[in-house]
Amino acid sequence: MKIAQILERTPENQTLTVKGWVRTFRANRFIALNDGSCLANLQCVVDFEKTDEQLLKKITTGAALHLEGKLIESKGAGQKVELAVTTIVVLGEADPEAYPIQPKKHSLEFLREKAHLRVRTSTFSAVMRLRSALAFAVHQFFQQKGFYYVNTPIITGSDAEGAGEMFRVTTLDPKNPKKTEDGSIDYSKDFFGKETNLTVSGQLEAETYALGLGDVYTFGPTFRAENSNTTRHLAEFWMIEPEMAFYDLNDNMDLAEAFIKSVLGYVLENCREDLEFLDERFQKEEQAKPQQQRSGMGLIEKIRFVVDNKFIRISYTEAIDILKNCTPNKKKKFEYLVNEWGVDLQSEHERYLVEKHFNCPVILYDYPAKIKAFYMRLNDDEKTVRAMDILFPGIGEIVGGSQREERLEVLESRIEAMGIDKKELWWYLDLRKFGSAPHSGFGLGFERLVQFATGMGNIRDVIPFPRTPQNAAF
Ligand code: 4AD
Ligand code: MG
Repeated sequence: MKIAQILERTPENQTLTVKGWVRTFRANRFIALNDGSCLANLQCVVDFEKTDEQLLKKITTGAALHLEGKLIESKGAGQKVELAVTTIVVLGEADPEAYPIQPKKHSLEFLREKAHLRVRTSTFSAVMRLRSALAFAVHQFFQQKGFYYVNTPIITGSDAEGAGEMFRVTTLDPKNPKKTEDGSIDYSKDFFGKETNLTVSGQLEAETYALGLGDVYTFGPTFRAENSNTTRHLAEFWMIEPEMAFYDLNDNMDLAEAFIKSVLGYVLENCREDLEFLDERFQKEEQAKPQQQRSGMGLIEKIRFVVDNKFIRISYTEAIDILKNCTPNKKKKFEYLVNEWGVDLQSEHERYLVEKHFNCPVILYDYPAKIKAFYMRLNDDEKTVRAMDILFPGIGEIVGGSQREERLEVLESRIEAMGIDKKELWWYLDLRKFGSAPHSGFGLGFERLVQFATGMGNIRDVIPFPRTPQNAAF
């Protein structure tokens, strides 16, 4: 039986079997056993006088045990029930000299080096259970709305974001690749007969499915070879990309807001124990920060706030006006000063808007065409596109999306203006030739959502095995 279920039961001397890993073993008597089913451990009480000494020596932190015993009311404080152990089988020992996860506070940096064992700590098991619950809530939200889940390719020949930050996929011999007459690498001899990369987004393919199935979403791995060593960037992350036929930008913003509120509401209701633990952890971390950097809210309070309050919606142009006139800009406190319309927003600007000015999630829309991808619908002013980004306190950008350009000529001229090769996108342009329709979609970075919901400061701590520049261990 799983410990989560055992802890719910009324103790009636019933005989039970549990299997799990030792968190601690005190006084040769009390085993705190954890099996991953919940945050709490099961207290298992050993009668050491009746137990072989050699066996007792093997009960150390990290060891895997099979225990049988009777479930009784606990006399000790801290738990309602405990297991009076009758049988102990050590399934796997853990040499205490060598086992790195000891019952004391380890730094997150240390645990990153032990990523294969860190899920045996309370913090990481809570984070990973929450991650799993959020993934379930994502599917539930879209499925209940009648969206279809589509799997877009991981190996692609197109650069969806036009940013060129891609990992090449090839089977050519790096020492001796086949060359063309002019000396460049001959990709026609490569596995796919052309240049291919790991996808940076499933959007373009998802669009083809939206214009047939109606409402679809992807939820899959995404790869970016950007050399960003920040607490919010991974080279391999998971993205959720809904794409909806006949949606305009307002419909798109409404859906994104409802989606985020729904999945966060789900964890508030279903992950109470883990959230309370992470909240305590979060508040301790906050206390250690200088006053100005504290968010002033607990974790659960922060999530509640997002679920209960309307997101602010303002245009890029309005945001620039706020930023131009704000104190940190006037006092030249920003690293990048905001002095003209058209500049890309840096994370310091996003954070100012969300954390200082509005103190609330913000949806920015209608960005300058120049700083956004080719597929976003051009507004009548011919300067801005129907883009929207959702900015979150402590996280920055969590969602990027837009209404898509459905007019063939406008799309072609934007592709040309951006110097993108039209030939590779022939199938994407076909969508605008055959039954084109207004449509919209967005992408939400799953790990940034998990970061927000768990209060973890570093994105490396919300994915089992993070991939970042210079790091692909495990
Ligand atoms: O804003 P992005 O680049 O948008 C797209 O890829 C669109 N094709 C989405 C769409 O409209 N279907 O990325 C979307 C989100 C970002 O807002 C961010 O949350 C996340 O993906 N993201 C990353 N998360 C972790 N590490 C990175 N390197 C990320 N890059 C983007
Ligand atoms: Mg973006």
